[in-house]
Amino acid sequence: MTKKATLTIGKDSWDFPVKSGTAGPDVVDVSTLYKDTEKFTLDPGFTSTASCESEITYIDGDKGVLLYRGYPIDQVAEHGDFLETCYLLLYGHLPTKSQKKDFDSRVTYHTMIHEQMTKLYSGFRRDAHPMAIMVGVVGALSAFYHDSTDINDERQRMIASLRMIAKMPTIAAMAYKYSIGQPLVYPLNSLDYSSNFLNMCFAVPCEDYKANPVLSRAMDRIFILHADHEQNASTSTVRLAGSSGANPFACIAAGIACLWGPAHGGANEAALAMLAEIGSVERIPEFIARAKDKNDPFRLMGFGHRVYKNYDPRAKIMQQTTHEVLNELGIKDDPLLDVALELERIALTDEYFIEKRLYPNIDFYSGITLNALGFPTTMFTVLFAVARTVGWIAQWKEMIEDPLQRIGRPRQLYTGASERNYVPISLRK
Ligand code: SDX
Repeated sequence: MTKKATLTIGKDSWDFPVKSGTAGPDVVDVSTLYKDTEKFTLDPGFTSTASCESEITYIDGDKGVLLYRGYPIDQVAEHGDFLETCYLLLYGHLPTKSQKKDFDSRVTYHTMIHEQMTKLYSGFRRDAHPMAIMVGVVGALSAFYHDSTDINDERQRMIASLRMIAKMPTIAAMAYKYSIGQPLVYPLNSLDYSSNFLNMCFAVPCEDYKANPVLSRAMDRIFILHADHEQNASTSTVRLAGSSGANPFACIAAGIACLWGPAHGGANEAALAMLAEIGSVERIPEFIARAKDKNDPFRLMGFGHRVYKNYDPRAKIMQQTTHEVLNELGIKDDPLLDVALELERIALTDEYFIEKRLYPNIDFYSGITLNALGFPTTMFTVLFAVARTVGWIAQWKEMIEDPLQRIGRPRQLYTGASERNYVPISLRK
């Protein structure tokens, strides 16, 4: 029996179907609401709106659960590697040994960028924020890879997907090298994905560089944790851009632009800056008070989440990774970590945070880890974008391949001026 929801306005009533998914809240399908009732729904920030059906990622915010194609994030992060996660998100199942070998090889042989693209970097100031460079260079990919921009061609969609996953580390590493005035380092096909990325970021021509396997594994796990997260702001941006038929490179550039905001992917950079501003555990109460003060725009960066009303499962794994990296680097007491641990302890016992169900999210510890790995704070969101590219691409492909897909075009509640006649400037008072 089909479940239904009844909307009654005055003497009129309308029924709308209620749909259930594999897990999570049911949805009321209001796609015919306007046609039936001549009314819109209003939901700023989409706090109660499901924008699509998806099979890729599931989050239970109350239980702090995150599944990639049904697999719990802690199992994927512990047992798999990032390229296996990419395969899982793109194809919907874990690869066999031969599928994994083939996929790794296909990604590896797309890691170089067109040589002329390296000239784009010199058009930026050296102190340009790397995210500004990422938006520009990724958007420019469509100017170089015309043979994978036809979104209606399945083969081109897959080539574009592989190119994005393969080239993002190269583009990101080159943005970093350019910002510090060092020569660009090309990808090495003999290295695994994360070791290759660290090599492109930290190798210099005058000496051999060998990525520390513990740090490469930590980098790989950080990529896994950031790979996808259902319909977050940047993924919704990519879907909306893609719904117009824009090419995949342009859609990913739009996602990067959205991710940059401090309320979203920019929070890892902001969280580390906040920990540095707090500086010592003695000053934590002052900042907790500011976070609770309605008149103070300050928020604890790395805390709170639209969906998680429990501990972000990624934050737990990130915290473990932080300790692994600091131990491997012999960093005994990182003052920022001391502040972070004490801030978390205090916040989790504070009535305000308990009542508003604010917990650390993935961005709370990631900055400390990335800082220890040697990245400047301006690169933190770039690393988030490198990882999230596979999520954006998987969600974009799912949307393009959905037979019900159409251009996204929300409506509004108009509260502006009623119709009025134009007044020539000579008659205006
Ligand atoms: C990411 O969506 C995703 O999945 C994103 C992400 C992903 O993987 O794609 O998980 C990545 O973006 C993680 C979030 C990173 N952002 C931050 O850490 C920035 C700090 N957090 C906040 O800005 C906020 O928590 C958001 C933006 C994350 C969520 O905002 P919401 O859901 O709109 O919640 P809200 O702003 O309405 O807050 C609810 C209440 C408010 O108080 P009241 O108005 O109800 O009195 O909680 C308060 C807020 O003032 N609050 C905070 C707070 N976050 C929310 N108070 C102090 N410090 C905070 N961090």
